[in-house]
Amino acid sequence: MKLVFATHNLNKLQEVSQIVGSNFEITSLEDINCNEDIPETQDTIEGNASQKSFYVFNKFGYNCFADDTGLEIEALDGRPGVYSARYAGEGCNFEDNVVKVMKELKGVTNRAARFKTVISLIINGKEYLFEGIVNGKIIEQEKGDSGFGYDPIFMPNGYNKTFAELSSAEKNKISHRGIVTRKLANFLENL
Ligand code: IMP
Repeated sequence: MKLVFATHNLNKLQEVSQIVGSNFEITSLEDINCNEDIPETQDTIEGNASQKSFYVFNKFGYNCFADDTGLEIEALDGRPGVYSARYAGEGCNFEDNVVKVMKELKGVTNRAARFKTVISLIINGKEYLFEGIVNGKIIEQEKGDSGFGYDPIFMPNGYNKTFAELSSAEKNKISHRGIVTRKLANFLENL
């Protein structure tokens, strides 16, 4: 079955294709000639994932799925959450976001945080939602060079390394995206 992944990120596409079995042909937006930016204007992670998958389904008619991720920090009432990509403002980069979070957490002892990814899958117009969560904490100083985004300041529970100090294979085993992608793959295998 052909399944469109509503993302322009080819790394994500490759990662998911490796986990989802060969019964499914995971197709990019470029393959269906969808070159536009998909709107993500909702105020929840679930809302954005749904908005993106329904956009593709309604406009192009393919079975498809979309994901959305956020870092939720307890002491910041769940921020940056759905605004994780542009937390420090339009045009900001990963480092700007990290700096903003570190500033807001200065002197704060509760460092609990989690990454959450939601996947919205649409098969023949019916939506299925999947969630992957990894709990951890925001450390006091950036550590590690791999990964991206908030990886250098996020230490998963049970580890004394940040995501940016783990290999991508180690990270995938425990990460929000790894968890939710395996849930999706499992569901698709049993369709
Ligand atoms: P997206 O929904 O996958 O595009 O993720 C939104 C934002 O969350 C990204 O721009 C990153 O800032 C952050 N993010 C998502 N996944 C990760 C991760 O695995 N590590 C660190 N930051 C992440």
